Amino acid sequence: MRDLLEPIERGFEEALAEARGDADAIEKLRVRFLGRKGEVTALMKQLRTLSADERPAAGKAVNDLKVRVQTALEAAVSGAAEEGRRREVESGAIDVSLPGRRPWRGSLHPVTTVTRELERIFREMGYSVERGPEIEDDFHNFQALNIPPDHPARDDSDTFYVRGELLLRTHTSPVQIRTMEAHSPPIRMICPGRAYRHDQIDATHLPMFHQLEALVVDRGISMADLKGTLEAVWKRFFGEEVRTRLRPGYFPFVEPGCEYDISCRVCDGSGCRTCKGGGWIELGGAGMVHPAVFEAVGIDPEIWTGFAFGLGIDRIAMMRYEIEDLRLLLENDSRFLAQFPV
Ligand code: DAH
Repeated sequence: MRDLLEPIERGFEEALAEARGDADAIEKLRVRFLGRKGEVTALMKQLRTLSADERPAAGKAVNDLKVRVQTALEAAVSGAAEEGRRREVESGAIDVSLPGRRPWRGSLHPVTTVTRELERIFREMGYSVERGPEIEDDFHNFQALNIPPDHPARDDSDTFYVRGELLLRTHTSPVQIRTMEAHSPPIRMICPGRAYRHDQIDATHLPMFHQLEALVVDRGISMADLKGTLEAVWKRFFGEEVRTRLRPGYFPFVEPGCEYDISCRVCDGSGCRTCKGGGWIELGGAGMVHPAVFEAVGIDPEIWTGFAFGLGIDRIAMMRYEIEDLRLLLENDSRFLAQFPV
């Protein structure tokens, strides 16, 4: 048996020396020695013809040879790969001076970023963050907010009705009502979330948009607290130089009611395309909570007063990132979204 092993091993070594660096030739060697009809395999088969005395030693010798051949082949294969790479680099097929490819990193949607930042500002000011259902009932969306069934503020065409008294909330104001039902004053809360209106889609209108509602109820709350709060929030969000102004406005659930503007972030108030020359940008509505609203939730308006305000989150994202068309926020085009790294 030993006489058979030696020439085979020598044959292997010689052939391997010749095949070095050539992956195809190495594979052929593997077949020639270890394949089903290979030379080492044939030796294995011959073991059967040996006597029981001879078999263990011969078996071990053949097996050792097989392991040596295998190990040498594996080393030759990786050597060949290495050699191949070296040749590619030398021939210029691989440009080692090219910068590496960066893995693609996800980013947050601009509306998410703005929402989180506003939440952080309000939390730091002691507000709780509340949530409410997007499918609301008529009572919370309208009636408790001093909008009875025959009120003109209920323009039917604006609302998506689901079934019976259920509808897609047309603003986040119903969460004021739910919070006052669940907690007694003092209350300081915000609610960011989605709202729905049956609007024709264009650059500044979407049937689904994002609002943030704020409500403060305590003893002795006045319009001055409202103004001071708005100024503090927008200074933190947009920077110290931003100015806030209130204009009279009507909302059934506040009295007095107002709309509020900030000085335009693009031109700082001197007038540009974004603010249509006026220097101010309207952000939302606000006012002192109407006594009828307090009565609807069983809070005594003789003891407690409060202010509330709402704002459009999408609009703020548009202004902060100078996005000209709201529809971009919904299209999920990764070329657009990748422009807002976290
Ligand atoms: N809910 C109003 C809207 O959707 C915004 C609003 C106005 C909210 C006045 C308020 C408020 O809390 O006091 O247009």
